[in-house]
Amino acid sequence: MRRALFRMGGGDAETAHERTVAMAARLGRLPRVTRALARHFGAATPREVFGVRFPGPVGLAAGMDKNGVALPAWPAFGFGFVEVGTVTAEPQPGNPRPRLYRLPASEAVINRMGFNNLGAAALAARLRDLGPLPVPLGVSIGKSKVTPVAEAVADYRSSLRLLFPYADYFAVNVSSPNTPGLRGLQDRSALDELLGELRGEQPVPLLVKIAPDLTDSALAELLEVCEAHKVAGVIATNTTLGRSGLSSADSVVGAEVGGLSGRPLTARALEVVRFVTSETGGRLPIIGVGGIHTADDALRMFDAGASLVQLYTGFIYRGPGLARAINRATR
Ligand SMILES: Cc1cc2nc3c(=O)[nH]c(=O)nc-3n(C[C@H](O)[C@H](O)[C@H](O)COP(=O)(O)O)c2cc1C
Repeated sequence: MRRALFRMGGGDAETAHERTVAMAARLGRLPRVTRALARHFGAATPREVFGVRFPGPVGLAAGMDKNGVALPAWPAFGFGFVEVGTVTAEPQPGNPRPRLYRLPASEAVINRMGFNNLGAAALAARLRDLGPLPVPLGVSIGKSKVTPVAEAVADYRSSLRLLFPYADYFAVNVSSPNTPGLRGLQDRSALDELLGELRGEQPVPLLVKIAPDLTDSALAELLEVCEAHKVAGVIATNTTLGRSGLSSADSVVGAEVGGLSGRPLTARALEVVRFVTSETGGRLPIIGVGGIHTADDALRMFDAGASLVQLYTGFIYRGPGLARAINRATR
């Protein structure tokens, strides 16, 4: 199945991705089929985290279904929650293609999509039309490329205002490597201002998604700011700018600019989750994400202190059996 899906784009990773999401969208329009599949793939132990009840601990990570076009389908693959986005206040095309690369020998992906999305208003309209969803919905918000970093707060706030009626939580994305200046919003004063403003908006849980490339001291500072603003949790981690752990067979594509995800990220994401747990005394809920390709990888994330996990690249390489295997391993 994976071979067929990979070939679907004539070798172009993004075309294959688009067709996979389109197929999922079609599946989502068959409620009886999705319900039956969800029973097969999704059977899991529910858990409550930051006041939200999750039917299963495995989520679909941000970036897979940016515009929420296949929302009813994802639970059919075993996902107990879905994070849509990242969306921005302004619709935007993202970076020129090609911008998504598979590194199969390393079970990795490099992307420099640059927040291609239809915009927060379009997502809000879609969510309004869809009505209630079978699983909790996270909405990832980021900064529009045309908005100067100095005006980032207003950009995030405008997305939040449009989308809060539909979100079970917001992921404040300050860690994508593909929007110039965005990662600077993880610095103490910028993050302090951003969270201060967003926390003053609506009583929806706010989570901060962090990069794996921060030093321990930068991470400790960020966590202090998160705790001061009583965020609901952190999502660790986004893609890395690092290139260690790549197979030599992938060295040419490995030189592409962008964020690296998948197998080479497993160890670092786990390390960040451990660090967050110890730094916060386990008080701050963590969604662990990055290089989870087996049920054991997920179990290690939970042992490290994560309350929930998310998949992206592992789902591409291992398929829907992966969410099911994790659901079973955590029952
Ligand atoms: C093609 C692609 C697009 C992504 N887009 C987003 C995004 O829009 N927002 C975000 O927070 N993370 C995005 N991510 C990062 C993933 O959500 C995840 O944090 C990262 O890939 C590590 O998990 P993984 O190793 O399971 O893929 C993207 C990842 C990929 C591969």
